[in-house]
Amino acid sequence: MRTWIVAGNWKMHNTIGESITLAQAIKEGTTNIKNGEVVIAPPFTSLYSAYETIKDSQVTLAAQNMHYEDKGAFTGEIAPGMLKDIGCTYVIIGHSERRKYFHERDEDINLKVKKALAVGLKPILCVGETEDERIKDVTQSVIDRQIKKALSGVDKIDKVVIAYEPVWAIGTGKVATSIQAEEVHRFIRGILKELYGDVSKDIRILYGGSVTKDNIGELIGMENIDGALVGGASLKPDAFLGIIQQISGKK
Ligand code: 13P
Repeated sequence: MRTWIVAGNWKMHNTIGESITLAQAIKEGTTNIKNGEVVIAPPFTSLYSAYETIKDSQVTLAAQNMHYEDKGAFTGEIAPGMLKDIGCTYVIIGHSERRKYFHERDEDINLKVKKALAVGLKPILCVGETEDERIKDVTQSVIDRQIKKALSGVDKIDKVVIAYEPVWAIGTGKVATSIQAEEVHRFIRGILKELYGDVSKDIRILYGGSVTKDNIGELIGMENIDGALVGGASLKPDAFLGIIQQISGKK
């Protein structure tokens, strides 16, 4: 039985004060949730204050990235153990913005997934095709490569969450239709079955890309869509809580 997840990726938004206000509103709006999880991913500078705000609540904390080494001379980077120490449960890995702007390769993402699991963090592994790749009809081969490379040598698959985020849908307002999204989610579940057998039924696969409270209802009705990774709409309490309400009502 899969439980739903709604995760808010705040990206490079919010000061400490803004983060506390938003985290507090999400905490207060989620006291009655059942059968699911609400996760927030503030920027690094707000992780601790967000943790202090949500620590006795239903909401858990994610980081947006990490390095794959335990420590060392990596100026500007954050180690996995530091994220555990600050109260993170999850870490987003391989977001398309990391792949595009910071040149993260499948190999780096694989090292990060393995290290996150080794220190007890649950990876939210992001995959997704670009608009060009969809037009060229190579979506499935791109997703197949991203998943297989990222999960190479990974055995604790029950701790991994997959997020399908078509790059063309991120921040564009061009949400995938529920049929387009479900097609890829079912394909991902097939890859997981090939790699891990029946455990694949229990792995959560989230949809991300221009999710709002107005379009999530249809997406979440699909069999293989187990929740959402939300960007822009996670920055406003009403918008984010509206998404959570719809998902918790339907899953
Ligand atoms: P938007 O919801 O703003 O499209 O962002 C999606 C995303 O990238 C979440 O990780």
